[in-house]
Amino acid sequence: MIRGLRLPPNSRILDVAAGTGEVTRLLQRHGHRVISLDQSREMLGQAVAGGAVAALGRAEELPFPRESFDALTFTYLLRYVEDPLPCMRELVRVVRPGGSIGMVEFGRPRGAWGALWRFYTRTCLPLAGKYIGHGWEQVGSFLGPSIDEFWRRFPGDSLIELWEEAGLERVTRTDMSLGGGIFMTGRKK
Ligand SMILES: C[S@@+](CC[C@H](N)C(=O)[O-])C[C@H]1O[C@@H](n2cnc3c(N)ncnc32)[C@H](O)[C@@H]1O
Repeated sequence: MIRGLRLPPNSRILDVAAGTGEVTRLLQRHGHRVISLDQSREMLGQAVAGGAVAALGRAEELPFPRESFDALTFTYLLRYVEDPLPCMRELVRVVRPGGSIGMVEFGRPRGAWGALWRFYTRTCLPLAGKYIGHGWEQVGSFLGPSIDEFWRRFPGDSLIELWEEAGLERVTRTDMSLGGGIFMTGRKK
């Protein structure tokens, strides 16, 4: 995703739903100035321990003026958002015209790989979670249905259309890992 965004060095970037800051750190290693935003204080605590500059907040209501950033990234966010279109509009609001947005999300492999993916997410992940314990069973059981539900809501090119409706152009979608992951990029008009 970061390569796909083709950002000039020293870009000012908002990493939304930054979690523990994995993507933030990659962006920093590419020489960018990054703010990590997340709604979870606990997750941000780990991001800060890893060297992030953090902002507590929700993707649906960002605590920044319009056009504050050259680019914005978010990874594994939209599945958790109740109404993705207004949320996308809010993400677009804080990016300057001509700036970029990049996203990574889980996908659903098709064909024979789809059957294996289903077995992995419905049987292996919950079992592994049960074995690990400490709440991981719930996580292991949640992920597969959550991914399925998201792509039922956004079949075909409808997520691309939603990005365009939110004010982005040149929207691209790239499938990775046999369709198990996707990344998207777009440019603010
Ligand atoms: C699966 S984690 C991904 C973390 C990180 N992006 C990564 O790839 O490692 C999802 C993160 O999204 C955050 N999140 C979920 N909904 C959010 C929202 N509406 N606004 C801000 N953060 C949100 C959660 O707190 C969590 O840290």
